[in-house]
Amino acid sequence: MKLFDVYPLFDIEIAKGIGCRTYDKEGIEYLDLYGGHAVISVGHSHPFYVQKLTQQLETLVFYSNSVINNLQVELAKKLGKISGYEDYSLFLLSTGAEANENALKLASFHTGRKKVIAFSNCFHGRTAAAVRVTDNAKIVAPINEGFDVEFIALNDLDAVQKSLRKGDVCAVIIEGIQGIGGIHIPEASFLKALEEECAANGTVLILDEIQSGYGRSGKFFAHQYAGIKPDIITVAKGMGNGFPVGGVLIHPKFTASYGLLGTTFGGSHLACSAALAVLDIIKAEHLVENAQKVGAYLIEELKKISKIKDVRGVGLMIGLEFFEPAKPIRDALLFDKHIFTGASGSHTIRLLPPLSLSKSDAELFVKKLKEVL
Ligand SMILES: Cc1ncc(COP(=O)(O)O)c(C=O)c1O
Repeated sequence: MKLFDVYPLFDIEIAKGIGCRTYDKEGIEYLDLYGGHAVISVGHSHPFYVQKLTQQLETLVFYSNSVINNLQVELAKKLGKISGYEDYSLFLLSTGAEANENALKLASFHTGRKKVIAFSNCFHGRTAAAVRVTDNAKIVAPINEGFDVEFIALNDLDAVQKSLRKGDVCAVIIEGIQGIGGIHIPEASFLKALEEECAANGTVLILDEIQSGYGRSGKFFAHQYAGIKPDIITVAKGMGNGFPVGGVLIHPKFTASYGLLGTTFGGSHLACSAALAVLDIIKAEHLVENAQKVGAYLIEELKKISKIKDVRGVGLMIGLEFFEPAKPIRDALLFDKHIFTGASGSHTIRLLPPLSLSKSDAELFVKKLKEVL
């Protein structure tokens, strides 16, 4: 059997990772400013993370959601505390798409409606409902076209108001910061108005913090810059530092009932151990503050480079838009300077490093980027 060929691959095989560095099978070292799609939050092979996962592997990897799992309870408590959402409930699953799928489902159960508002250039995943509310016709199969979605330009409050006031919208789903769409931050005043309009029209506000959450923006959640409290928040990626784990944070107004949601693998003992280790490291090493500080430094330095058309983002979620196509720049960074970065569209490079990135590594990147440009 061969692999189903859906990923364009770099001719590099990564064999090892330590902190913000990865190593290929020849031992060549790469600075990782991509974190494997914003997944590596606390750094590759963090000793505490490895120790906690090893201990759990030797004890119990998995038992089903039909028995008490106190690791889930501990995770919900710690996540509630660190994020400022102690009164919300947590539903655990394994991926970001699943988190959004369940968030949308919950919104629909709660409101009895099925129309959704999402935003131009958004990405929410590839499962049925998550892909339906993703603004990329190429990845929506006919079978996914099951409910009404209206895509509205980011920050266009008038259009959102007009639509919400018809009274038939189940949910508004919005990324804390648009990631795949090229690092676009919704305006704080827009988010504030969105929160009010959703409440006034009985619509559920879902904040997708799968890429922008878990400290990446320099706050635990990017939407916290706007001072809002959404009805539902979805998380994944950095939550497990590479172990697949995701979650839905749910406002107390939603009523749970047996069988309403469910999953086989979500919240397994091993997944919870990974997620607990991540939260412990984020707290002990002040990684949210580090993301804020090192990110601010990086953004300031990058803004001084005249060959970059636009620098967008906050914390360690940064987009660099170039006047020319970004691919040759990204390739030169990777193959000549051994630095991993991400892409977005044709002209933008995304930086999504581990939250533990040091100022000296940020300086190194700026120096290497200048050499490439
Ligand atoms: C904002 C956002 N939502 C959802 C997802 C989907 O997550 P997953 O690939 O874990 O299903 C992604 C993945 O890139 C994302 O960036």
